[in-house]
Amino acid sequence: MKLFLDTANVDQVAEIAAWGVLDGVTTNPSLVAKEGKDFKKTVLKMCEYVPSVSAQVTATDADGMKKQAVEMSDWHTHVIVKVPMTVEGLKTLAFCKEKGIRTNCTLVFSVNQAVLAAKAGATIISPFVGRLDDTGENGMALIAQILQAWSHYAFPTEVLVASTRNPDHITQAATLGAHIATIPYEVMKKLPLHPLTDAGIKKFMDDWAKVRK
Ligand code: E4P
Repeated sequence: MKLFLDTANVDQVAEIAAWGVLDGVTTNPSLVAKEGKDFKKTVLKMCEYVPSVSAQVTATDADGMKKQAVEMSDWHTHVIVKVPMTVEGLKTLAFCKEKGIRTNCTLVFSVNQAVLAAKAGATIISPFVGRLDDTGENGMALIAQILQAWSHYAFPTEVLVASTRNPDHITQAATLGAHIATIPYEVMKKLPLHPLTDAGIKKFMDDWAKVRK
């Protein structure tokens, strides 16, 4: 399973990359706007830490998306072009596949959208579990359905669990066999923690202090 950080903050990427567990980063226009930094420079810096950095197109028509996809993929070999799940996006995914440009199809909310994106040649699809949960639907149930569909076919497209909001989303992604989960910094920081680990270390340290040296 690959673990990505969902952020546009380079310091966060550097910190988590140092753990030795980070496979990639996903950004989106909202995350980039939050940081208020130069987008291309941010992406290039992140490419120094991880082999996969998703950078999203902002055009909405296929011609504009294709132009941005060609430009962004030229920035660095680690860039994956993020394309929204629309009809124009599907045309862009097919174009990118033809050109050998790696893509991440974002804003996937149904099995049908997942199948279309895979057939159009997306390298990765990103179903958004948290946003489905927010509407009262079960986001992880969609991941289970997509993986079940994938078990019948030979789609090379990786399923990335996006819009994760808590450690349980990551647990479920792992147990369902999702290929990738992208994780906000605050959630990532919670993953190594367990109260019994802390209690165990304290007991070992307390006992070690009693050992005659
Ligand atoms: C990642 O690729 C997505 O853009 C991100 O996970 C969306 O998360 P959000 O629903 O918390 O904004």
